[in-house]
Amino acid sequence: MTILDGKKVSNDIKNEITEEVKKMKAKGEKVPHLAAVIVGNDGASLTYVASKVRACERVGFESTMVRLSNTTSEIELLDKIEELNENPDIDGFIIQLPLPPQINTQKVLMAVDPDKDVDGFHPMNFGKMALDMSTFIPATPFGILELLDRYNVETKGKHTVVIGRSHIVGRPMSILMGRKGFPGNSTVTITHSHTKNITQITSQADIIISALGVPNFLKAEMVKDDVVIIDVGITRVPDDNAAKGYIITGDVDFENVSKKASFITPVPGGVGPMTIAMLLKNTLLARELHRKK
Ligand code: GUN
Repeated sequence: MTILDGKKVSNDIKNEITEEVKKMKAKGEKVPHLAAVIVGNDGASLTYVASKVRACERVGFESTMVRLSNTTSEIELLDKIEELNENPDIDGFIIQLPLPPQINTQKVLMAVDPDKDVDGFHPMNFGKMALDMSTFIPATPFGILELLDRYNVETKGKHTVVIGRSHIVGRPMSILMGRKGFPGNSTVTITHSHTKNITQITSQADIIISALGVPNFLKAEMVKDDVVIIDVGITRVPDDNAAKGYIITGDVDFENVSKKASFITPVPGGVGPMTIAMLLKNTLLARELHRKK
C-alpha cells in the first residue's frame, strides 16, 4: 500500500512555483497576485482562506484578503467583484464558499471575469473543462489529477466511482476521470444521496473518489482488494482531547480500508494541501494569460 502524500507533493509544487517567481523577480516582472473574498465569519472558511494567503506568501505571490461582514448584500458583493475584475494588478481571485443565504451563489460566480476565475467555477470555464478546452480546472479536482499523475496511478480502463455530486468536487471529478488522456480514460459512475445499494457499486470500483462529508462512511467491507482511494472528506468532528476541540476526519475508515488499498490519501495531509497548491498553479496560469493579452 502506498500513501498518496499530498503534503509532500504540494510542497514540491510550491517549491517549483517559488523558482518560477524568483525568475520573474530577477527579470523585474510583476509577480502573480491572488485575491480572496470571504463573506462572514465561518470558522472553517476563515481557516481555508488564511491558508491560501499564507501559501501565497510562501511562494512569493502577492495576495489580498477581502473580508466582508455576514450582512453584506448581494449588490455590495457584486460591486466588489466588479472592482476586482477591473483591477489590472489582480491576476485571479476567489470567492470563498459557502456564502450567506441572502446572496445568490450562482449570480455571484457568474459575475467573476472568466479570465480571473482561478477556482474554475464560472460556467464558461466549467463548460470548457467538459469540452477538453484549456481552462482553469477547479483546484480540488486538479489536485487529485496531479496526485494520480505524480504517483503514476493507472486510470485507463479502470472503473472510477465518485461519491458526491457537488459542483466543486464530485461533478467536475466525474467529468475529468472520463476524459481522454492521463489521468482519465476511466469508466465513471457517479453516486449521490439517492443512489441505491451503494456497496454494490463501490465494491466493483478500481478507484473511489469520496467527496461526501460523512466521517468514516466508506468501510473496508465496501471495497475490493487493491482499490485506489481518494478521500476528499474534511469534517470537523468534536473531540475534547484535541487542542482545537475537534479533529479533521475523512469519509474513509482509513485504518481498515488502507489494509485493502493499493494507494490511499490520508486525512489530513492528502487532498487538502493539494487544493491550495493547485490554486497557486491556476494563479500562475492566470498571470500568463493576462501577459499574453
Ligand atoms: N469552499 C470549499 N472549497 C472551496 C474552494 O475550492 N473554493 C472556494 N472558493 N470555496 C470553497
